[in-house]
Amino acid sequence: MNEHAKPPTLSERADELEERMMHELGERIATKSTLFYIADGKVEMPNGPALKAANPDKYFLMGADPRLPKMPAKPTLIDFFHNRFASLNHLLQSATHALKGGHSEKVVLACLLHDIGVASFIRADHGYWGAQMIEPYVDEEVGWAVRTHQALRFFPDPSVGYEYPEMYTKYFGADYKPEPYIVREYERARNHKYYMTSRLICVNDIYSFDPDAKVDLNDFVDIVGRNFRQPEEGLGFDDSPSAHMWRTLMWPTRFL
Ligand SMILES: [Fe+2]
Ligand SMILES: [Fe+2]
Repeated sequence: MNEHAKPPTLSERADELEERMMHELGERIATKSTLFYIADGKVEMPNGPALKAANPDKYFLMGADPRLPKMPAKPTLIDFFHNRFASLNHLLQSATHALKGGHSEKVVLACLLHDIGVASFIRADHGYWGAQMIEPYVDEEVGWAVRTHQALRFFPDPSVGYEYPEMYTKYFGADYKPEPYIVREYERARNHKYYMTSRLICVNDIYSFDPDAKVDLNDFVDIVGRNFRQPEEGLGFDDSPSAHMWRTLMWPTRFL
């Protein structure tokens, strides 16, 4: 029987594509950064000369990782939402909550972006990482609010009905006390002109997710368009102070 008689099925074609992508990666060596090892409790890094000696015919990966979703040449924030942020539900639920509460576009955008540090990079100090990523592109109020929610979420504010999250007691134990730098951040923030913007992130930060809630990134495309200065060259290519963070997210397994 001629096995080429029938055109390949969709799943055969998908297998073929996967095979080809693996092969393409097979000609390149994708490296892990120290941070990935540290997350597994190991302080180590792959040794370049040893890796090269073990794979003399291969070069190190210096561009896109074929295992990850392909990014366009000039990526937008929305492209990162679709292709690099590991979870959207929490961000969309928080932003939807803020939108329904009639808050300003700045507050809605701050809610939409407040945890992109977690969704894309790292949990630890995520407010600081997230703020740094967006600061060149948003109003300073939005960046400040994202940075400061890192601290404010640990402190109640009865004036807006914000309590210490019950979930934190479950997650961190009843005895958990925030680090002194978080306490200092909170104290500095209390009298800041943007205090309430950051506080509103906490108020709209939905900790118990409704799995049936209808949320859609499309509901926020216009708010992003009006409030996030998308660089023409694409995020990562505009030479802004945080362009490297977006590039790293786009091409995280480059050798250098
Ligand atoms: Fe957060
Ligand atoms: Fe959050």
